[in-house]
Formats: sequence, C-alpha cells, structure tokens
Amino acid sequence: MAKESIQEIIEALKGGELVAIPTETVYGLAANALDPEAVGKIFEVKGRPLIDPLIVHVYDMEQVEAVAKDIPEVLHKLGEAFWPGPLTVVLKKREVVPDIVTAGKGTVAVRMPSHPVFRNILKEAGIPLAAPSANPFGYLSPTKAEHVKETLGAKVKHIVDGGACDFGVESTILDLSEPEKPKILRPGPITGEEIEGIIGIKPEAVEHVKLEGEAQDAPGLLESHYQPHARVYLMDSAGGIDASKEGFATVLLKRPEGEKESDTFWLSEDGDLREVAKNLFSLLHLLDKKGYKAIYIEKPANEGIGIAINNRLKKAQFKG
Ligand code: TXA
Ligand code: MG
Repeated sequence: MAKESIQEIIEALKGGELVAIPTETVYGLAANALDPEAVGKIFEVKGRPLIDPLIVHVYDMEQVEAVAKDIPEVLHKLGEAFWPGPLTVVLKKREVVPDIVTAGKGTVAVRMPSHPVFRNILKEAGIPLAAPSANPFGYLSPTKAEHVKETLGAKVKHIVDGGACDFGVESTILDLSEPEKPKILRPGPITGEEIEGIIGIKPEAVEHVKLEGEAQDAPGLLESHYQPHARVYLMDSAGGIDASKEGFATVLLKRPEGEKESDTFWLSEDGDLREVAKNLFSLLHLLDKKGYKAIYIEKPANEGIGIAINNRLKKAQFKG
C-alpha cells in the first residue's frame, strides 16, 4: 500500500483502473462509472454477479442530474438534510450510465459521500465513480484499509488509506423511483424516521428477498451476505451464554463488569449503538483472523442504527 499522490489516484481512475477509497460508511472499490470496461473489473475482482447493480458516487447535485433524470422534489429536501452523507437514493437513470453499472435496470443508485478523501477525489477527477464495498462478494465489508489489503490486495493495486470508517455499516438505500411510494431497500445510518421527518411520508421497509433470475432490487438484501468464515449465532441478550467451548467467541454490545473472560469481546464501552456499528465488521474481521470457529453475538435493540446492525447480523448469521 505505497502512499500515492492524489494525482496518481486520479490518473489511475481516468485510465480505467480500480482504486479502493475510504467512505464514511465502509471502503469502496471505485471505477469510472461512465467506463463499462473499468466497471467490469469491479465485478471480476469481487466475484460479484452481474445482476447486482452498483452505487454511483457523485460530488454535487449537478452530477446527480448528469446520471439521473426526473429528479423528484423530495430529493432536494433529502439532499439538504443528509448529503454529503450515508444516504443512497434510487432514481430513473440517464443513457450515459452504462448498463453494467445498473444491471440493465432503468434506475440508478446515487450517493454523495461525505468522507473528505473520497470527496476530494470526486472533485479532482470530475467523474462519477461506481463503487461497491471493497470486499470479495458475500464476505464482510471493509472498514479499514488493511481489510481491503488482506482480502483483495493481490488484485487491487491502489488502496487509499483513510483510517477507520466512521459509521461502519453501509449507507441507507432509499428507492425514490416512485417518489410518492418511497421504499427503504437497505437500512443504514439514516433511519426511516429521519427520512419521514424530512419528506413527511413514512418509507416502506422492504423485507422481501428476490432470489435468482431478474436483477435484484438490492442484493444486499440476499439472505446470506456479509459473512465471516466463522459461524455466527445471534443471542437475544448477554445473559446465560455459555460459549466456553473451544474455538468459540462471545461478542457483547458493551464491556462486561468484572474480570474479562477469555474469548469474550465487546463492540463498545457502554452500549452506544453508533460505536457498536462502527466496530462490528472490524471485530468480525479480527475474530476471523484469530481463527474462531463460531461467534455468538448479542443483538441490539431494533431502533435507530440498531435496525441496520440487526439487518447485517441476520445476514452474517450461520444458515446451516
Ligand atoms: O455505504 C455504501 O453504500 C457503500 C459505500 C462504498 O458507498 N457501498 C455499498 O455498495 O454498500 P454495495 O455494492 O456493496 O451495495 C449496494 C447495493 C446493492 O445491494 C445493490 O443491489 C443496490 O445497492 N443497488 C444498486 N443500484 C440499484 C438500483 N438501481 N436499484 C436498486 N438497488 C440498487
Ligand atoms: Mg457490499
């Protein structure tokens, strides 16, 4: 991970190469969104099926309008409230966006990230960047540069290190292709209530999982995703766990009182769910590296960012 100048990164992107870049949610694997060949490399490197469309990252509203059309009025309000930040919106797409980006759909997912490094690259490059999370398809999302290096380092030459990601879970995806019927396709850091507070309509939370065949609404919704190598089991509360078997780890939401038992880990000091989200994928990466066979994780309350955490935990869960 040699440190490269911003100029070298921009040149790589303009030359059709892939660059792993930090965002405020997770690390993304970016390519010029308007170059189908460059975007093709993303699918190759991740082992991602072509039916799974990508998010297009933009610098400003002008770029939103360059890739999407029929922009609904509510997007201006949402943009003012949450952009730049961890909200992705699905809009009607313009012709310039290659089919490989959108899995041939008539819509495009757009997001304006807030991470200063990503923003600077978008500004200097002047092109929209397609970027999924920078992990092999189905595995845990990366929240540190070293996660990208460990899993995709052999295939990705350019990795920009921007430290640990703030939110640690991927952006909220809001489908606005029918603006009067907004739908949350993936819960994230921006909650349904926050969205309702801005647009005055309660977005429908889509639980439905489409299986093979036609393009997915959001394959992040596939039942299995974000999986570590260890088997993940979920616990309703911290009480009464006996994970003392060999090769088993216990993960709590907050630091337990008293002596630390071996093979016990926690996601925050005091149970703050923002902190839990930030540390979740990172701890799972670490436990995988330590070689645990099974991980028992305490589930958070299903509110606020806890909804996004539970969504990711359910997908990480061992399916037998
Ligand atoms: O926080 C994030 O969103 C991160 C960072 C890198 O920006 N990106 C991310 O990308 O999580 P990815 O590819 O791992 O997940 C994007 C999800 C996919 O499940 C995909 O199906 C959905 O967005 N998506 C993309 N385009 C779509 C579209 N036109 N309609 C519906 N869903 C779409
Ligand atoms: Mg992903």
